Amino acid sequence: CHHVCCIDETWLFRTRIGMRKVFERFFFFGISDATEFKARLKTDILPLITSTMQVIANQTDTMLNIAFSQTGLIALNITGPANDLNDTVFTNGQVADASNLGDPNTTNWVPEFVGTNIHGVMLLASDTEASINTTLADLQSKLGNSITEIYSLRGAMRPNENKGHEHFGFLDGISNPTVGGFQDPLPGQALVPTGEILVGETGDNVTRPEWAKDGSFLVFRQLKQLVPEFNKFLADNPINEPGLTPEQGSELLGARMIGRWKSGAPIFLTPKFDDPDLGKDKFRNNDFTFAEPGQNSSDPTDQSKCPFSAHIRKTRPRADLSVGENTTHHIVRAGIPYGPEVADDESSSNTTEIERGLAFVAYQSNITAGFQFLQHSWANNQKFVHSGVGFDPIIGANAGAQRPVNGLDPTNTTRNFTLTIDFVVSRGGEYFFSPSISAIANTLSV
Ligand code: HEM
Repeated sequence: CHHVCCIDETWLFRTRIGMRKVFERFFFFGISDATEFKARLKTDILPLITSTMQVIANQTDTMLNIAFSQTGLIALNITGPANDLNDTVFTNGQVADASNLGDPNTTNWVPEFVGTNIHGVMLLASDTEASINTTLADLQSKLGNSITEIYSLRGAMRPNENKGHEHFGFLDGISNPTVGGFQDPLPGQALVPTGEILVGETGDNVTRPEWAKDGSFLVFRQLKQLVPEFNKFLADNPINEPGLTPEQGSELLGARMIGRWKSGAPIFLTPKFDDPDLGKDKFRNNDFTFAEPGQNSSDPTDQSKCPFSAHIRKTRPRADLSVGENTTHHIVRAGIPYGPEVADDESSSNTTEIERGLAFVAYQSNITAGFQFLQHSWANNQKFVHSGVGFDPIIGANAGAQRPVNGLDPTNTTRNFTLTIDFVVSRGGEYFFSPSISAIANTLSV
């Protein structure tokens, strides 16, 4: 049985529902006294960790989740072959993966992410920031000297009409796979085996310790977004389509970089103009495959409706792959924006002065097949999904060097845009394992 009530726990919070809160705090810590920490984990943290049932009943004010890095598990003495999670990328930590992910080096990284000192992260989410502050202060006083704060990041939804939109202005959180057995998929939503997201379930073919069952690897990345620079690029390069004003041509260029309009409407379904009603309609806004209706695969030469390089097409190629959704390369995203709105002087100078971006969170049962694959083998791979496609213009990284991107101009899809700056700059992050409640109760806190 894979029903919500049977698969323990917190994963629903950890994924979509968690993200819908207005505020979220990421609190990265080191464990200084493992014995004391374990005792506190059991008596003080465990009761606060939000279970799926509480989430559904909306019973809690501040939702709490906790996840551990490899060095954190070692600090808790969860070691030896029997406890090996068997994910090399997790074992080595994200800093060892930096160049593989396309980061130029770690000089852009938040210094606290360079190294493997971070043992864990607590995620606190609520609709009021005061409630997060109270819960966090309470936890810190209970945990006392058993932990040290290493770094923290404050995520918040953007205000007013931008609520739910990331900092470039596009509605986010539309498309996530649905995990087998939990919910019926909406039209166009990928239905993936439970084990593609949750460790130890059907579809996860790696040998795992028994206690790891129903946990999930949590990838955290702090992705800085250069919003004024992005907007300047759009303003400088409007698509020159008959019937479009320069402003509309710039909007179209941005939409083709993402694969959706700012409203969330997919450009494959509405290629020339935004359609806000389509954008907010969850029964229609994901219902496309990049193939023409009635066909199983896409036309490998046709980018008129959506470039092959578009962010959502690079990270989920749908019918561009002969196997369609039948890959192991799906993630559940649960990020939230961080940092302030663009100030007037930043906007007029076209230059970012105050850091803002996306606190990116992805869950999967296998980092190599999930986040790492999407970033390394798809977004950063000029030849995916065909040769000549170029980089994902949003997240495709080329070690800081310029990035060729094709297909963005529907009037001339062979026109090459050479992007000379990264609009998204990696500030690093860490790989974590988010255990089930029973693993916390029966293994990690004893
Ligand atoms: C979808 C923005 C980073 C993977 C989207 C969407 C937007 C967006 C606007 C469309 C809304 C939706 O479908 O929910 C961004 C921005 C990023 C970023 C601004 C960085 C600052 C990443 C990273 C990855 C990723 C690092 C993975 C390596 C995906 C996936 C989808 C998506 C898998 C859904 C595709 C689909 O199912 O159609 N992103 N994203 N994104 N993004 Fe990102």
